[in-house]
Amino acid sequence: MGLDATGPGAGPVTVQRGVPAGAERRVAELYWEAFGRKLGPALNPADKAVSFIAAHLNTDRAVCALLDGRIVGLAGYHHGGRALTGGSARAVLRAYGHLRGLHRLLLLALFERHPVPGQLLMDGIAVDPEMRGRGVGSLLIEEVAAVAAEQDCRELRLDVIDTNPRARALYERRGFTAARTEHTPYLRGLFGFGAVTTMYRPVAKGRVGGL
Ligand SMILES: CC(C)(COP(=O)(O)OP(=O)(O)OC[C@H]1O[C@@H](n2cnc3c(N)ncnc32)[C@H](O)[C@@H]1OP(=O)(O)O)[C@@H](O)C(=O)NCCC(=O)NCCS
Repeated sequence: MGLDATGPGAGPVTVQRGVPAGAERRVAELYWEAFGRKLGPALNPADKAVSFIAAHLNTDRAVCALLDGRIVGLAGYHHGGRALTGGSARAVLRAYGHLRGLHRLLLLALFERHPVPGQLLMDGIAVDPEMRGRGVGSLLIEEVAAVAAEQDCRELRLDVIDTNPRARALYERRGFTAARTEHTPYLRGLFGFGAVTTMYRPVAKGRVGGL
């Protein structure tokens, strides 16, 4: 799949399934750039967080966007019991220490989401800041929708926080509808957001999405 909205001299963006071998660190950096504000209290400092994420990726639970061989975006998803970002409780305690690790586990538990059967749960879409607004995020969403169709899922689900109205606008344009909003004012001080909206998009049987 190609995209011609890139700058002069740049090749087209392509989307592929899975994280290419050797790109784990780059993916973890993009993920952290996008979600570090939210995950910081649980996984800071940044270099440790990036190393932890890179070491525990389920590389078959993402689609990646590449430009000239470099990853410029990714979308992780949770399906079949596994999400892009892995790492057991034991791994967190090993990396951060037993005493400090415990409260991190509690914070991480706040973000834990599980799809119900028939759902594919999108759990993080991140595009290189230099490449935003050129359609890469939309390409990634459509590729995840194609994965969902192939896996016989009936719907895509995702959560978006109240401080990210542009992402929400993008999801609405790509066919997602808000179903419910959970207000979490007690999280605003720590994580910077005070509400989470869950959105759904039906998966059309036999239809592979396009732009
Ligand atoms: C949200 C995100 C993945 C969109 O990727 P993208 O490649 O810019 O998306 P597209 O080019 O297909 O669509 C652009 C639309 O995305 C939305 N958008 C959200 N944040 C944006 C940003 N920082 N820059 C540009 N567009 C953004 C806008 O609605 C924009 O439409 P507009 O040009 O009419 O304002 C990307 O901005 C990003 O990585 N943001 C940080 C991480 C994040 O917020 N992820 C979503 C968490 S739920």
